[in-house]
Amino acid sequence: MGHPNLYHCLNVHQFDRSFVEENCALADKVRDIAKSKTGAEYLASLLNHKRAMLYFVQPSTRTFLSFYSSCQVLGIKCAEVRDTKTSSEIKGESEEDTIRTFSSYVDLIIMRHPKENFADKIAASLDSTGRRVPIINAGSGKDQHPTQALLDIYTLQRSFRHRGGIDGKKIAMVGDLRRGRTCRSLSLLLSMFDDVKLYFVAPREFQMTNDILKLLNASETKYEITDDLNKVIPEVDAVYVTRLQDEWDTTEGGALNYDVSRYSINSVNLRMLKPDAVILHPLPRREEIALEVDADPRAVYWRQVRNGMWSRVALITQIFGCSKNINDYYINNY
Ligand code: NCD
Repeated sequence: MGHPNLYHCLNVHQFDRSFVEENCALADKVRDIAKSKTGAEYLASLLNHKRAMLYFVQPSTRTFLSFYSSCQVLGIKCAEVRDTKTSSEIKGESEEDTIRTFSSYVDLIIMRHPKENFADKIAASLDSTGRRVPIINAGSGKDQHPTQALLDIYTLQRSFRHRGGIDGKKIAMVGDLRRGRTCRSLSLLLSMFDDVKLYFVAPREFQMTNDILKLLNASETKYEITDDLNKVIPEVDAVYVTRLQDEWDTTEGGALNYDVSRYSINSVNLRMLKPDAVILHPLPRREEIALEVDADPRAVYWRQVRNGMWSRVALITQIFGCSKNINDYYINNY
């Protein structure tokens, strides 16, 4: 059975805690099942009658490849458009018509787009046609990245598995919070957990925006706003580091910089981090996490990449209503 409220996956407001936890539990099961040939063949038979379109008109390495791989795990066949120059949009076709065309051929559209709310708009417009297919938002402008938030929660949950889970944890988000869609989506998912405290660490011009802060106030989530990373590091259970999102400078009418070294993890401030804390980053990274940090057992950002694939497999099974098959297979075989 799929989640009753999830057909399209457009933003984190559609998720509740039970959905998120079920997604984590399913991700754990599929990664176990996939370890054996028979298990992998079983997974690959689940949705081998489906086709997906990956419409990624903004740069992507991990999100694209992990969705592509997730589809392969489930037997879904993929087609892709990664550049509007190679589609009929270059001939003047509207994005809406282009996507409506995809919906004639495929059963699922996974899309990344520079415009906020574009996935919502497309979902609504497809809903009004006779050919409705699920849309997954794989990153929309500066606004939302719901599937990244799911995989970040999955990574945190695995990291805190033997420490009471995410409830009660202190989590710092560092970097370009104003334009980083991953932090915006993750903050809202974290607000569903009990007694979590967030620290938003950024220069004033790059701080978390009021729309998110208002929602955190409404859910009575504790947070602190600061520009002092080194003060926060010793207190937290997780640091979620992000890069300067300077690809938006041109649309914002000019470059706005900050001293990235003040919002970076390196071998010096790493010594102040609790021994059982973890460091996450949605990647790609630049200089905000020094290379030497990779060797520290608290660095989990490469695990986060792999978790992303399993978390997306789980999400797709929830959308197509076959998560019960996975739960049953798991009970019968493990
Ligand atoms: C992020 C994104 O695209 O928002 N990358 C990703 O999906 N893992 C973060 C970023 O680009 O900085």
